Amino acid sequence: MKKIGVLTSGGDAPGMNAAICAVVERGYSRGIEVYGIVGGYKGMVEGDFELLTPKNTFMEKKRGGTMLFSARYPEFKEVEYQKKGIEVMKNEGIEGLVVIGGNGSLAGALSLTELGYPAIGIPATIDNDIPGTEYTIGFGTAVNNALGALDSVVDTAASHGRTIIVEVMGRDSGDIALWSGLASGADAILVPEQPYDLEDIAEATRNGRKSGKRYSLIVIAEGVGDAQEFADEFSQLVPDQDVRALTLAHTQRGGKPTVRDRVFATMLGSKAVDMLVEGQNGVYLGINNDSVSVFDLTDDFAKVKPVFRSDLYELHLDLTGRKKA
Ligand code: ADP
Ligand code: F6P
Repeated sequence: MKKIGVLTSGGDAPGMNAAICAVVERGYSRGIEVYGIVGGYKGMVEGDFELLTPKNTFMEKKRGGTMLFSARYPEFKEVEYQKKGIEVMKNEGIEGLVVIGGNGSLAGALSLTELGYPAIGIPATIDNDIPGTEYTIGFGTAVNNALGALDSVVDTAASHGRTIIVEVMGRDSGDIALWSGLASGADAILVPEQPYDLEDIAEATRNGRKSGKRYSLIVIAEGVGDAQEFADEFSQLVPDQDVRALTLAHTQRGGKPTVRDRVFATMLGSKAVDMLVEGQNGVYLGINNDSVSVFDLTDDFAKVKPVFRSDLYELHLDLTGRKKA
């Protein structure tokens, strides 16, 4: 291969830029031209390409967001758009593609490989919800952003003796809630992977107060529901508590990527180029035990469920005296 492409798609994730930089650096060192495709699959179909070199990417490693921009482009689920994208790439002489993104983006990579176009996926989403891999690029930064907000909100909640309900992102995954909730000592963590009982949560907050804690913190994953709606229902059970709700929303997704997000992104971007050049495709990469793993887009991605750390959830239940619902 002499020319390859790289794109970022779906929700941006901190560390995407570090992955792009690694693709560019690896390509450069192997004598391959790397074309950035601007705006995800839309840019592929519309032929929005730019040649990337270490000279114009090296300052990007430390930035959040994505220098190639991202887009939701539902049209790409249709085979005629996928074929058009492949035609545009081939006309430009681009022989293979590195796709950096979440589940939807990797489904796009799978479609391309099914049509015979070489593509390799790199999991990048704050949701940490991709099958097989323990870690997705952006998760660490997002969960630290969420934790920073929880720490701040606890200062004011404690000062006023309030109960604060904080909604975090994650789509259908509870990982941001679980990890930030455990790290902040939340009284209750609500995740879509586990059922919950409202009375049990009320009891956990009462127990916290009895133990001398001057506030209560409930972390709710967006996949469970809306923080304000939950607060309205919860308040009925605890009329003596002054309850407030807030949603962290996109504040979690931005900012400088953590060292793990940058280092893992660098490992994955570099490996993706090596694999494409060596003629492998139809795979996506992941991180397990701090090392790169390789998965099959057809079998592992399409058929395996993402892992939920039930051991961490049970630790939370044990520490807060909550019961398994
Ligand atoms: P993420 O990659 O973060 O999960 P989305 O689910 O929004 O984000 O997917 C990003 C983009 O990937 C979509 O806008 C679309 O262009 C493409 N995509 C999603 N699902 C598919 C699919 N089944 N086949 C082909 N392309 C897809
Ligand atoms: O997939 C990343 C994510 O931030 C999810 O956690 C969230 O549900 C969704 O994207 C929000 O999407 P948008 O940025 O389009 O509002």
